[in-house]
Amino acid sequence: MTIKNILIAGGGMMGKNIAFVFSSNPDYAITVYDLFPTDVDSGIRKNCAQLVSKGIITEEELSARLSRIAFTTDIDDGLAAQADLVIEAVFEDMQVKRETFAKLEERCRPDTIFCTNTSVMSPSEISAELKHRERFVGTHFWNPGHLIPLVEVVKSDATSDETAETVMEVLKAVGKEPVLCKKDVPGFIANRMQHALWREAISIVENGIADPETVDKAVRYSFGLRLPQLGPLENSDMIGTQLTYNIHSYILEHIEDSHTSSPILGQMLDEGKMGFKSGEGFMKWTPEAVERSNAELNEYLIRMLYGK
Ligand SMILES: NC(=O)c1ccc[n+]([C@@H]2O[C@H](COP(=O)([O-])OP(=O)(O)OC[C@H]3O[C@@H](n4cnc5c(N)ncnc54)[C@H](O)[C@@H]3O)[C@@H](O)[C@H]2O)c1
Repeated sequence: MTIKNILIAGGGMMGKNIAFVFSSNPDYAITVYDLFPTDVDSGIRKNCAQLVSKGIITEEELSARLSRIAFTTDIDDGLAAQADLVIEAVFEDMQVKRETFAKLEERCRPDTIFCTNTSVMSPSEISAELKHRERFVGTHFWNPGHLIPLVEVVKSDATSDETAETVMEVLKAVGKEPVLCKKDVPGFIANRMQHALWREAISIVENGIADPETVDKAVRYSFGLRLPQLGPLENSDMIGTQLTYNIHSYILEHIEDSHTSSPILGQMLDEGKMGFKSGEGFMKWTPEAVERSNAELNEYLIRMLYGK
């Protein structure tokens, strides 16, 4: 199928960045649909400010890309009927997502590809009541969506191979690094690993083995440093499967395997320690430190991805 018209449902943080990603292809006409009026143009300009200031895209290129992105609050203005591909990025709420796709299914062609940007919800469950479930697939973009290359393409229990392949190709063509998650499992691929690490990090603090700053430092200055170059399985091959086997035989029984959230997280919530939002979580955060952390992350990603 030739993709030309792309509809993004939900013009929040992710929707805007996803629209920007697709705008790299001049053949695409992109429309962002939201229930509420949203200044998509200014939002994207703000998110892309560092890309422009570092010379990765010019002001003219940004303006040309923005000219390919329209915005509507009217789902009945005919754009849904023209859409070849829809990416939903509305609130992370099962009912809201199901209702959004039900509305879209009434208005789109039966072969329009439907994608959900859910972070954690099951694509099978979101699409359960749709008529054409084979054209539905998860596309989990990572935040910040305009920078992080990974998109997890998650097959539901009914997604056709053709749908998954088309979406993988479309994502590759706009510069993303899509990976196929063959089964609809909670956390897909990357969040399962990320949260296995966070569970252990929190457990180390909870058990008085190290303080939060030390835990983060231990990651930053060791395996965290080489992770972008060396994934865990290549690393396992590098040290040898025998050593991996022996290490796991010794250590796994000592590693956190709780199936519930840590009590210290619950305690922090009771004490109003919400992280950046309240100025304290595992660590203390002044407004300046919050701003610095966010800016430094973007700077780092741009340096890693573009060498600038
Ligand atoms: N924020 C992240 O880090 C992140 C990362 C990956 C995936 N996601 C997922 O992306 C989706 C969007 O997240 P976000 O952070 O952009 O949220 P957001 O709150 O910034 O944006 C959601 C937008 O959806 C709109 N909306 C709500 N209901 C709607 C409806 N019925 N029809 C049309 N528009 C509607 C809202 O008005 C809002 O503009 C969620 O499913 C979220 O889990 C978020």
